[in-house]
Amino acid sequence: AGEGAAEAAALGLDRDSVVLLVGGARGITARFAATLATASRCRIELLGRTPAPTGPEPASTAAARTPVELRAALAAGPGAPKPAEIDRAARLILAQREITTTLAELTAHGSAARYRSVDFRERDAVLQAVKEIHAEHGRLDGVVFAAGIIEDRLIAEKTPESFQRVYGTKTAGAAALFAALDDLPSAPAFTVLFGSIAAVLGNRGQADYAAANDALETLGARWAARTGNRALTVHWGPWAPSGTHTGMVGAELGREYARRGVRLIDPDEGTAALLRELAWGDPAVRAVVHTASGW
Ligand SMILES: NC(=O)c1ccc[n+]([C@@H]2O[C@H](COP(=O)([O-])OP(=O)(O)OC[C@H]3O[C@@H](n4cnc5c(N)ncnc54)[C@H](OP(=O)(O)O)[C@@H]3O)[C@@H](O)[C@H]2O)c1
Repeated sequence: AGEGAAEAAALGLDRDSVVLLVGGARGITARFAATLATASRCRIELLGRTPAPTGPEPASTAAARTPVELRAALAAGPGAPKPAEIDRAARLILAQREITTTLAELTAHGSAARYRSVDFRERDAVLQAVKEIHAEHGRLDGVVFAAGIIEDRLIAEKTPESFQRVYGTKTAGAAALFAALDDLPSAPAFTVLFGSIAAVLGNRGQADYAAANDALETLGARWAARTGNRALTVHWGPWAPSGTHTGMVGAELGREYARRGVRLIDPDEGTAALLRELAWGDPAVRAVVHTASGW
């Protein structure tokens, strides 16, 4: 095992351990999955909304590397697709490419890894998936819940439906996860919830997202108090994108943070910091803020 081996050992993670990461096939959580793989070579179960890739990409799009090239290739395809269909198809292809890359990275680090599509706003599907994963391996050693979406708008321009999508993804998703964990014969040694600094300090256009992450911490703390299990919410500052794992901080948001003088978390340091927190931090602590600079 590579870097982080001492932390993994302190957490009791080894090749036989099973860690489930919700939202772990993409973005910053895929980076943390890679850190777990390097440190312990544990089995990794990834869940997300995107349908699992079913095979190699068609030749008509496989050569298109940038989003612009991809849209052009799709527009040239049969049936004269509408712009909205092209955008949807391009987003799906890029998401599935990222999932494929994550699985290849985890395998290269020595972990057995699998992805399956589960929408965490669908409670029954969550209960079923977690039960199946536990039954298949006979154990579940750690869980990371990182599902989240943003639809940033000022409150006056926000619709109740949009608020519910952002808020419900975190709160209904986490509630379903805790219900699923309650049904298992034994709880994982750690459960980590990915929150946001927006919950702690607020952020323009993110009233829904800030409320969601604040509620996420409360749900985790209540579950921990009720069950005696460890649940830690990490309220992250913004991360720098890395490779295919861009995460939520796109180019526009990145420029806005630069304008405000907010530094972005280096992904290597962010993942190492979380592993250190889990290994050496006080298990009774329910929330931490990890950020690269002020806000
Ligand atoms: N990046 C940052 O700087 C940053 C900062 C603070 C907090 N965070 C938190 O960290 C987490 C990951 O963010 P990210 O930047 O890596 O964004 P991301 O790349 O957009 O990843 C979000 C993940 O959540 C999944 N997801 C969304 N809705 C879901 C649902 N209903 N059911 C199951 N999975 C769902 C997505 O899967 P699909 O794409 O397949 O739908 C995706 O894998 C989020 O919770 C976010 O709030 C990120």
